[in-house]
Parts: sequence; C-alpha cells; structure tokens
Amino acid sequence: METNMKTTSLLLAILCGICSVSQPANAEEITYRKHIRPLWETRCSQCHDSDAPYLGEFQEDKQRYIDQDLGPRMDTYADLLHFVGWPDTGAIMRRLDDGQNHPDGKPGNMYIYLGDTDQERQTNLEVFKAWIGPAAWNLNRWKQRGNAPAITKDQLERLKVAY
Ligand code: HEC
Repeated sequence: METNMKTTSLLLAILCGICSVSQPANAEEITYRKHIRPLWETRCSQCHDSDAPYLGEFQEDKQRYIDQDLGPRMDTYADLLHFVGWPDTGAIMRRLDDGQNHPDGKPGNMYIYLGDTDQERQTNLEVFKAWIGPAAWNLNRWKQRGNAPAITKDQLERLKVAY
C-alpha cells in the first residue's frame, strides 16, 4: 500500500512535469465566444451574417448570392462548425489557409479578409488555427477528392473548437 502510494505520487509528479512543459499555465484557451466571435464580426460578418443564405440554399443558387457579395451564413457557433467538421468539412481551413498547406502554395480565397496587412492576417490566422486545435489544421474534405484523401476519424478527434 505504502509503496503504491509512493509510486502513484511519483507518477503524478512526472505527469505534471510533462503537462507544465507542453502547456504553460498562462496559455489561454481560445474560445468561440471570447476570440472567434469578435474576430468574425469585424472580418467576416459583412458577407456571412444572418441576411446570408444557409449553406443548402446558397448551393442551390450560388451565383446569385455571390453577385450580391453573400457567402453562406455562419453567424452562430453551430453554423460556423458546419464549415469545420461536417458537412463542409475543412472549408474554414481551406479558405483561410495562407498557402502553406495548399499543394499549389496559393492562399485560400478568404485569407485576404483576415486583415488589412499581412501581419494582421497572420495574427488572425493563428487565432483561427489555435481555435481549431494545434494539430487539427487540415484541408481534407469528408470524401477524397483528387490527390487529397478523405479526413480520418483520428484527424477529426483533434478538433478543439471550444465554445
Ligand atoms: C466581402 C465578402 C466576404 C467576406 C468579408 C468574407 N467572405 Fe467568405 N465568402 C464570400 C463569398 C461570396 C463566398 C462564396 C464564394 C466562394 O466560395 O468563394 C464565401 C465563401 C466562404 C467559405 C466557403 C463556404 C463553402 O461554400 O464552402 C468560407 C469557409 C468562408 N467564406 C469563410 C469566411 C471567413 C472565415 C471570413 C472572415 C475571415 C470570410 N469568409 C469573409 C464572401 C465573403
């Protein structure tokens, strides 16, 4: 019993040591409410707010909406998640990526809206990436397309997207 306790506390001590190395106590969790929502309001709401069509509607009459500078609606936490997990898996990542993860090196076409300067775009991209999850920034779709494989369950499990 005594030795068991000792072993347990030793293990705990080691584990906590590991935690504190990989996750500094002052690393703030990125949440939708605190970080993404305000950023979205400034940089994305103009074309993706409640006057924009839901994804299904948008897809039925794409060009008409695009002509009005309207993309699909993503004005709530739940709606935004449709463009992260399902059905439009990875859309946020594909559109906001700065090109580093695109095979052709070109940024996604919404990257430009992340800021007025490259510095601002990079800073805001980091906020989105941290929200999605440190190892979850992945451009794959639900289904395979061309050379891009379908997303795996393992990759989906890394999503953080805290509310
Ligand atoms: C000036 C208008 C405008 C702004 C600002 C804008 N978007 Fe868009 N967005 C559009 C339009 C129009 C489309 C549809 C055309 C297309 O797919 O490129 C679109 C498409 C998208 C898509 C793809 C949806 C799909 O059908 O797969 C995502 C994801 C997206 N936007 C995210 C964002 C994010 C995040 C921001 C803020 C950083 C943003 N957009 C800012 C106009 C805008």
